[in-house]
Amino acid sequence: MPHHSYLMPHGPDFAKVRKDMSTLFEELSRVTTYEYTEDDVRGFETLYEEIRELKKQRNAVIVAHNYYRPEILKVADFVGDSLELALMAANVKDADIIEFCGVHFMAETAKIVNPSRTVLLPNLLAGCQLADSAPAEQLAARIAELKQQYDDLAVVSYVNTTAAVKALSDIIVTSANAAKVVRTLPNKNILFVPDRNLASHVAQQVTDKNIIPWEGFCYVHQQITPAEVQRIREADPELEILVHPECRPDVAKLADAVLSTSGMVKWAKERPASRFLVVTECGLSDRLAMEVPDKTFVKGCKLCTFMKVTTLEDVRDSLRDVKYEIEVPEEIRLPADRALQRMFEATSG
Ligand code: 13P
Ligand code: SF4
Repeated sequence: MPHHSYLMPHGPDFAKVRKDMSTLFEELSRVTTYEYTEDDVRGFETLYEEIRELKKQRNAVIVAHNYYRPEILKVADFVGDSLELALMAANVKDADIIEFCGVHFMAETAKIVNPSRTVLLPNLLAGCQLADSAPAEQLAARIAELKQQYDDLAVVSYVNTTAAVKALSDIIVTSANAAKVVRTLPNKNILFVPDRNLASHVAQQVTDKNIIPWEGFCYVHQQITPAEVQRIREADPELEILVHPECRPDVAKLADAVLSTSGMVKWAKERPASRFLVVTECGLSDRLAMEVPDKTFVKGCKLCTFMKVTTLEDVRDSLRDVKYEIEVPEEIRLPADRALQRMFEATSG
């Protein structure tokens, strides 16, 4: 596995990526979202060869979000949460192509922060329902309306938004840094777009601001109920409960920790506890099961269709045919980049 200078130290240890099929099979067998047969794993090995060859020819780097299919995580050079992927993309210097195994807004973010690279999304169906819940025209109208009421209004957008929405925003946040970023703002009145659950999580931690939520939510996290989490906890009271902030507030209330996806990985690795209930999209428990085999990860999860639509064949075809290229018009990219750079500044150090 080639090592890139921009690999981040807290990503998975890809030096350990297995060459041997029996080890890969053993590792993928710990995944519970899919049942892999030996034939499947043989197929993956063949595709890995092709992908590694194409990656060399194209001088590409493959990055993947934590929720992606496990066989794709195994061929990625870097795996992370939205914040890590944005930072990683911004620092790509020696690769010409960023093969982005994530959803559309993530690939768009990579293009915004690193416009001189070619950014490819292997399957255009990988959108995000939460990002789609805030159309830019509706947001522009809401901003105009609220500005009449509050002259100090700041527009804070979650990274799960389109480039056009980022361009209308003062600053961007991710699930890993939302409260920290909001605290740095001098403004009292904040329109928080588009996730009302993350907005509520921020409002609980930053009590001196007036947080006005956009009424969006993620259909995956919204399906998880407190009753379901309680039932699992009652059956196994030892479980430490990790919840993603896109979950409903009544689910977040039951958590031992509310964390971004990579925050959960770090927490699970570092905490002395050995049994965790992982309340988010199911891919996260799969990554943990592969990477932390000595601990138990119970699933309190739902599947995101958008994160699962991309296959290993799509990744191969995308590198082979240099598709699907993500473009962001400069008049949108520049203000969107400004909002993203403000987030990087607010959280550096
Ligand atoms: P993270 O930034 O925590 O990885 O979350 C991204 C996402 O889309 C969660 O649904
Ligand atoms: Fe979007 Fe929700 Fe899927 Fe994350 S889990 S990509 S927020 S739809």
